[in-house]
Amino acid sequence: MSELFRFGISLPKDLLDKFDKLIGEKNYSNRSEAFRDLIRQELIKKEWQEGGEIAGAITLIYDHHKRELINKLTDIQHNHQKVIISTQHIHLDHDNCLEIIAVKGHPKEAQKLADTLKAVKGVKHGVLNMSSTGKDI
Ligand code: NI
Repeated sequence: MSELFRFGISLPKDLLDKFDKLIGEKNYSNRSEAFRDLIRQELIKKEWQEGGEIAGAITLIYDHHKRELINKLTDIQHNHQKVIISTQHIHLDHDNCLEIIAVKGHPKEAQKLADTLKAVKGVKHGVLNMSSTGKDI
């Protein structure tokens, strides 16, 4: 962990009040930790925009009874092996499956994979969680 450095921030009172209310609701113990998370979130956004190495997860919800759906999802994943590091399949109930696909690599490839999977007919919900390898944040 790098050395801690202190500095002052000037904010309008009403903005600070809103910030304190927000971080209280999110259970932050202090402003510093909340600021660190906000800064890291912006750094991660930059990593995704600039094409550095990223990590993240794609979450899909689908009905496995839909014809050909599982085959299509599997084919797509085989075509994106470079960016997929792990896939977990959970049988939620009789009909619904939850699939979590961990990704690491180029952000454009991860985004393309997520878009392609979400667009498959029968996928009820799909979301890409953009995170970081943790090396540069
Ligand atoms: Ni299942």
